[in-house]
Formats: sequence, C-alpha cells, structure tokens
Amino acid sequence: MKGGGGLKNLPKVELHLHLEGGAPPAFIRGLAREKKLDISGIFSEDGSYAYRDFWHFLKVYEAACTTLQTPEDFRRLTLAVLEESAASGVVYSETFLSPDFCGGRDIGAWKEYLLAIREAADEAERTMGITLRGVVTCIRHFGPEKARETALCAAETAGDFITGFGIAGDEKVGAPKDYLWSFDSAREAGLRLTAHAGEWGGPQSVRDAIRDLGVERIGHGVRAIEDLALVDEIAERGTVLEVCPGSNVTLGIYPDFRRHPIAELDRRGVKVTVSTDDPPFFHTTMAREYEELNRAFDWDEGQFLRLARQALDAAFCDADTKAKIAKKLEA
Ligand code: HPA
Ligand code: ZN
Repeated sequence: MKGGGGLKNLPKVELHLHLEGGAPPAFIRGLAREKKLDISGIFSEDGSYAYRDFWHFLKVYEAACTTLQTPEDFRRLTLAVLEESAASGVVYSETFLSPDFCGGRDIGAWKEYLLAIREAADEAERTMGITLRGVVTCIRHFGPEKARETALCAAETAGDFITGFGIAGDEKVGAPKDYLWSFDSAREAGLRLTAHAGEWGGPQSVRDAIRDLGVERIGHGVRAIEDLALVDEIAERGTVLEVCPGSNVTLGIYPDFRRHPIAELDRRGVKVTVSTDDPPFFHTTMAREYEELNRAFDWDEGQFLRLARQALDAAFCDADTKAKIAKKLEA
C-alpha cells in the first residue's frame, strides 16, 4: 500500500491536539486584523508560523493566542480546527482546552468560553460527523499556583464534555509533583489524567509523571525508549502514549519518521496512538501523519485501524460515545 491513497479516508481517533495550536495561521491573521493587533512578527513570508525552536514556539503560540479574546472567537476557532480534522478523516478528537487563554482562569468566564466551544462542537458533530471532547490543560511554565486555578475550572465543569485534565507547556520547568494538588483535585472531580512528558525530558520525566501524578496516559512519552526497563513497565501497566511523530520530527527530537521510535514502542507492547499536537505549527495533519508512517514503516490499513481502536479504548469519554465511534471504525 505504498503511496497510501486510501489512508486519508480511514476513520481516525485523535487524543492529543491543542485547540489553539490547531488554529490555521490565516484564521489568526484574520482575528488580528479585526482587532487591530500587530502580530506580524510571528509569521514567515509564506504566511506560516515562524519559530526557531520549541521554546520560541511556546512564545509564538502565546502571541497567536492574544488574538483569541472572546467566546465567539473560540466558537469560530473550534469550527475551523474541527473542519481541518474532519477533512483528514478524524471522527473523534480529544482536545486540550486551556482556561489560561479563555478568560484567564476565571471560572465564570471559563464557563462562557466552554459554552461557545460546545456550541461549535455540536454543530461540527451534526455537519461534519466529528465528535469533540475536552481535556482541560494547565500550563507548566505558568507555575503551580495558576495550575491550581485551572484545576478548579476543570473540576467545576467536569462531565460528559470535559472528560480529563492534563499539563502542557515547558517540560523543563519544575517537576510533576509540583502539580500534585491540581491533579488530585481533578481526579476527585472524576476527571481522567494525562501529562506531557518524555518529549524534552528523558525517561525519568515519564517515570515521574506516572508515579507522582498517577496519570494513565502520557503526552508524547517517546523518550521512554531510552530506558528499556521503563518501556517494559509502561507496556505492563498499559499506560497509553499520545505519540505525535510529525511534531517530534519538526521540533528536531528525531531527524525523520524512519528514526522515530513509535514502531519500536509498538513492537515492544506499548499502547501507542497517533496525533498531531499543533498541526499548522508543525506543518502536519492526521492524513499526513498516516502517509508518513505508511512510508516509513509500511504500516497498512489494518495496523492503522488497530491503533485507532487502541486510541478509542484509551479515550476519556463515556461508554455510549465510545460505542458510537466504534461503529464508525468498523464501517
Ligand atoms: N507541547 C507542549 N506544550 C504545548 C504544546 C506542545 O506541543 N502546544 C501547546 N502547548
Ligand atoms: Zn502537546
């Protein structure tokens, strides 16, 4: 199946997408124009986002987010992001939502932003056949105090739409245990847990996230491959990795798809899944991830469907939603 022509239409389940990170650059430029904000410095001449490395990427990301100022902006953003995902064959998207960018972690404001995001999600489900669920995410380099406020937003809105809690941002700042209060509060509110680790931190960062925060999924986690005892432990525990190969290649963690560890982790029994992270920033889409994985590892439709089922099993949504999505994977 070299060339992978049919891969685009294969039903896909995505577990790791930052909502603001899915914003097409033209969409952000449009908002900047409407609000008379000058953020031209974050774009390259060809109109794409321009950044030097991961840490500069975080700055550019936050600058892009300054254009997202109202619930209506987030309603439009959600529709734009889901349109791109649906065009890649995604039928279920578990998306990181950040109260930091939605009214600055104020619970009342957060509820209004969330209502607008849900309105867009309902519309996308009706018109594009894609289902969205949210994972509220705190931002590590904003510090534990702000994370606590974020966790309160998450706990206050936990339910059938907000299904999980996680942490993103600069993995090199602080330690997972600094965020224990937030993760404990989220768990007590019934939320399922995931944490970014093992992208910029080595294997120990993955161990710390699992042991100190008790997360059942890891965002990235790929650098566990540098410690095979940890790989065995993750496989035995059934910890799920939200792997974003294109993101890792674009940011230079691995030189190309062939040298990305996703296939070896899979062979060693780790539950891997495939996601895009921040697709326009990393010049990717779910369809492109599948094409590149097909080219690098000769993965076929059977393998991709197996990984999509694995992702659906690991999704944080309720059983009825899973059953509905499962039918789309069987079709
Ligand atoms: N990694 C870490 N933090 C982030 C990312 C990412 O890709 N996108 C937005 N916040
Ligand atoms: Zn991420």
